[in-house]
Amino acid sequence: MADIRPLIAGNWKMNGLKAQLPELQQMAEALTEDRFTGLDPLICVPATLLGTAASMVSATPLTIGAQDCHAAPSGAHTGDISAAMIKDCGATATIVGHSERRADHGERDTDVMEKAIAANDAGLVAIVCVGETRQQREDGSALHVVTSQLEGSLSSTATTQNTVIAYEPVWAIGTGLVPSLNDIEQMHDHIRAYIDDRFAQAGEGMRILYGGSLKPSNAKEILAINNVNGGLIGGASLKADDFIAICESAVC
Ligand code: PGA
Repeated sequence: MADIRPLIAGNWKMNGLKAQLPELQQMAEALTEDRFTGLDPLICVPATLLGTAASMVSATPLTIGAQDCHAAPSGAHTGDISAAMIKDCGATATIVGHSERRADHGERDTDVMEKAIAANDAGLVAIVCVGETRQQREDGSALHVVTSQLEGSLSSTATTQNTVIAYEPVWAIGTGLVPSLNDIEQMHDHIRAYIDDRFAQAGEGMRILYGGSLKPSNAKEILAINNVNGGLIGGASLKADDFIAICESAVC
C-alpha cells in the first residue's frame, strides 16, 4: 500500500471564543515550515468560529473542519447547521458520530451514516468516529462493537478521498487513560482489514486516526503504530504548542 499521509486533526469541542483565534494563527504559521509538508493538519472549531477561522488560515497548510452537521441539505431544523453551510464557511471536513454526540444527542449509527453522506454530498470529508466503552473493553467485546459501528455508520459510498475513520475508545477521551500500544494496534489492524474487505480498492489508504488522551508525551509512540494514520486530538489541540508538538511527532 502506498504511504499514507498522516492527518493530525484537532477537536476543540465546545471551547473557543474569538479570543482563542491567535492560538490558531500561531498553529497556522508554524505549520508553514517545511518540516510539516508531509502531513495534513486540521482543526475542527466550534460552528461559531468556522468562517473566521477558515479565512484566517486560508493561505496556510492548516485546514478547518466542523464537529457535526445535519443530515438534511436544508429545511425546517431550527438551530441546526447543514454540511453546505459548513462548506460555505470555507471548511473542508466535519466530524460525525463523535461519542459525545452519540451520548448527548442519542445519535445512532444510522444517523451518523446519513450525516456522513450529507457531508460528502456537500464536498466535505467525513471523519466518522467509532469506539467502545470501558465496559465493552473489559467484557472483551471491543472489536465486535467497533465492527458493528463501522457497519452501521459507514456508507457504501465511502472512499479514501471522502472519509476518515477515527477510533476513539470512549473511556480514553478526556480521561488521561490510553489503551496499551498492543490494543491500539490490534484495533487499527482490525479496522484496516474491515475496510479492505468492504471497500476494496475504493478504501485503499483510507486514514484511520487514533483519538483519546493523545498528547505530546505519548504522540510519538502512538503515531508510530502500524495502521495509525494520524490522530484526533481534543484537549491538547487547544494550545498551539501542544498541537504543534504532536504534529512534530507525526513527521519525524
Ligand atoms: P481528548 O479528546 O484528546 O481530550 O481525549 C479526543 C476527542 O474526543 O476527540
